[in-house]
Amino acid sequence: MASLKYPTPSVIELITKEPLTAVPQKYIHPDQEPIALSHGGTLPTVPTIDMKKLVLGDATDLELEKLHFTCKDWGIFQLVNHGVSFSLLEKLKHEIEGFFKLPSEEKMKYKVRPGDFEGYGTVVRSKNQKLDWGDRFYTIINPIHRRKPYLFPELPSSLRNTLELYLSELQELAMTIMVLMGKALKMDRREMELFEDGFRSIRMSYYPPCPQPELVMGLSPHSDATGITILHQVNGVGGLQIKKDGVWMPVNFLPDAFVVNVGDVMEILSNGAYKSIEHRATVNSEKERISIAMFFNPKFEAEIGPATSILNPQNPPLFKRVGMEEYVKDFFSQNLNGKSYLEKMRIRSDQKDSTTA
Ligand code: OGA
Ligand code: NI
Repeated sequence: MASLKYPTPSVIELITKEPLTAVPQKYIHPDQEPIALSHGGTLPTVPTIDMKKLVLGDATDLELEKLHFTCKDWGIFQLVNHGVSFSLLEKLKHEIEGFFKLPSEEKMKYKVRPGDFEGYGTVVRSKNQKLDWGDRFYTIINPIHRRKPYLFPELPSSLRNTLELYLSELQELAMTIMVLMGKALKMDRREMELFEDGFRSIRMSYYPPCPQPELVMGLSPHSDATGITILHQVNGVGGLQIKKDGVWMPVNFLPDAFVVNVGDVMEILSNGAYKSIEHRATVNSEKERISIAMFFNPKFEAEIGPATSILNPQNPPLFKRVGMEEYVKDFFSQNLNGKSYLEKMRIRSDQKDSTTA
């Protein structure tokens, strides 16, 4: 480690030092699963959920039903009429762009420290690890006492204040969505309480243009270890791909929509009824892409497992129960690798007898 100036490599650093025509070897991901050939050239459209309709409801709760089936079939939707103001989103864009443009020395104050997973940069776990084409900053923002003193509290104050506002708006939005998911699943209302004032974190990502975008990965394939995630494509540049029914596909989103995805915790809580979606971020050769993901999780003290109110002999538990704290620690001790982490939580058929008794 001592030989490296920055233990966390920065793509922004790499491309500003000298113009690149070819991508360094360690950024090349040779085993990428290809995207499905599109039939007729049209991209599939991720279902749209209208927050206003969802909250107001009606006699038939049509939008709630749509939410329910979308979470089962897709695990991802675009949220329109979300109520977060254009001016706040513009401010957020300005602040996040400003953050990534800070001099390297400034950003390195926040660099990921050995053994940790929060901060600026990529967690490098092994010498031969393939690196992603992007710089990112990940940190816990709730509960407040979990904020590391040198991370969130040390961000430029205008960025911090904007993030606080964004957090409080999204917090309400996310809680409403999760409570409605519980309603659609016919869960006892109290079983969603574990998300109240829960563990929240953010990942801001900056994906610079790349001379050979097809060789690299912006963010490796993964599902989020969350209840739900709300992703905002800050500067409107797309690049997200999802794996649906076993095939990778690029997806387009409406310009003002948030991308909401079901995470592994929700898949566990719903006992597999809702599916977390595997996704990855790609980059392009022309324009940088900026995103912010906000992750909504249960409290650290909570135990996660299939909601007991929906279990019965016809719906036996498919996943183990584990403390949230332990769950998070284990997740971050490994590299992102599709949905492999969720699979570890699954009760194997040879274990079923003892756990369902
Ligand atoms: C994430 C994520 C996608 C993106 O941060 O977990 O999936 O487009 N981000 O940046
Ligand atoms: Ni993700």
